[in-house]
Amino acid sequence: MAGTFPPRARKIVGLGGTFRQASSSERLVRAVLAECAGMGAEVIMFDGPALARLPHFNPENPVRSDEESALVEAVRGADGIVIGSPGYHGGYSGLVKNAVDLLEDLRGDARVYFDGRPVGLVVTAAGWQACGTTLSAMRDVVHAMRGWPTPVGVAVNSVEQRPFDATGALVDEGVARAVRSQAEQIMGFSMERPA
Ligand SMILES: Cc1cc2nc3c(=O)[nH]c(=O)nc-3n(C[C@H](O)[C@H](O)[C@H](O)COP(=O)(O)O)c2cc1C
Repeated sequence: MAGTFPPRARKIVGLGGTFRQASSSERLVRAVLAECAGMGAEVIMFDGPALARLPHFNPENPVRSDEESALVEAVRGADGIVIGSPGYHGGYSGLVKNAVDLLEDLRGDARVYFDGRPVGLVVTAAGWQACGTTLSAMRDVVHAMRGWPTPVGVAVNSVEQRPFDATGALVDEGVARAVRSQAEQIMGFSMERPA
């Protein structure tokens, strides 16, 4: 697949994770990004601590911090996006939603919000029910923002599964397969779009 890519490297932006040092949702986003990088993409990650430096989004405040501008510009220039969240109370986290709300800054762009871009979604939760509801909620948001959620979503039950070893390496073959499939869909979709 990598050999068929146009010469320009695709830019894939990841955002998500939590404050936890070994955040499983952050690791999953990074795993998808790593697969994309292996297929020639330039990748950039906005992890939990980075998202926590964003102020609460205020639609009446036009002033942007460097951190806010960095995220908005990265998504503006992205060919694909990966968003990861834990399931918190059956939905996705406020930390991730605040970052997504900031992307309101893209409303006036010719390529509004996530328009025309593939968006990979990954979730971890302590139960399958929240895995499903959270993934589904994130898909709805991506649709609302004119993005194309990849057919493959990745959901990990962090109680029943231990996809990462102590070093953070992805060791679960099934999860690794899903991660690879999602990355292939992101890259495949983005290479079919005008550069
Ligand atoms: C505030 C909070 C709410 C949570 N709510 C749910 C929930 O409704 N359902 C569920 O299955 N797990 C829930 N969990 C568990 C997390 O989704 C789970 O531990 C997740 O894997 C954490 O992601 P992380 O490793 O990226 O921090 C909750 C955890 C916290 C801290």
